[in-house]
Amino acid sequence: MGVASPLDTVRTIADLRARVNGWRGAGQRIGLVPTMGALHAGHVSLVKNSVASCDKTVVTLFVNPTQFGPKEDFSVYPRDEARDAALVAAEGADLLFAPVVDEVYPGGHSTKVHVGGLGDVLEGEHRPGFFTGVATVVTKLLLQALPDEAFFGEKDYQQLQVIKKLIRDLDIPVTATGVATVREADGLALSSRNAYLTPAERATAPVLHGTLAQVAEQVGRGEDPRAQAEWARGQLERAGFWQVDYVTVRDAVTLDEVDDASKPARVLAAAWLGKARLIDNVAV
Ligand code: PAF
Repeated sequence: MGVASPLDTVRTIADLRARVNGWRGAGQRIGLVPTMGALHAGHVSLVKNSVASCDKTVVTLFVNPTQFGPKEDFSVYPRDEARDAALVAAEGADLLFAPVVDEVYPGGHSTKVHVGGLGDVLEGEHRPGFFTGVATVVTKLLLQALPDEAFFGEKDYQQLQVIKKLIRDLDIPVTATGVATVREADGLALSSRNAYLTPAERATAPVLHGTLAQVAEQVGRGEDPRAQAEWARGQLERAGFWQVDYVTVRDAVTLDEVDDASKPARVLAAAWLGKARLIDNVAV
């Protein structure tokens, strides 16, 4: 990381479009990195990827209320715009789009984007409304900025597939690029919500990635995906995860259940440790 410099910030869609149109007119390729702030090395990696493959990088910072359930952490979600802006400026981002809620959802807003099927399973089942909130805001951000390429972390693997599907279904002229999950040395995937872990829970948390990696290896060797998923559930429960929402082996694109690893597959899980709900996934 270099030395942070002030980052140009716009707060209205009109200002965002004016800036992007200027760059596009000059023949430049635009990258978009949508975020909710509370940035960590995973987000930095998204920005690095955008800066490497695009001429201009726009980072969006918007804690999207429509993707939080009534009992979720919207009101306490960490917010520190100055810190986040300095972090992405140091990576070479060109513009921060940080709108207020009314700019994105003006009074009377009632249109929602729902990705049927793919958005209804796994996270969609355990967090009703979550993917409709994500799909709606991502569609809006893509149409507001009209980038050439948008970058999303593979840590939220199902989210990435949902976004790719809405882009195809709605013919939005943008490429969604998945960026590899950034992990701590012990395997724990970086997440803003890791901050909720106590030291003891933090010590247990890497069991999630370790277990999924073992399942991926065994399924890759021809073991039965369902039996492996059952084994993984037991491992997580024994380690101290008090609720395993799901652990499953799915087709890497459709997220349908699979019987073997003849096509690209992904092991995905969500499990609770103390107050934190951790999700992770590993390629078979
Ligand atoms: O992954 C996230 O941080 C959010 O779901 C996203 C894609 C920025 C939409 O609010």
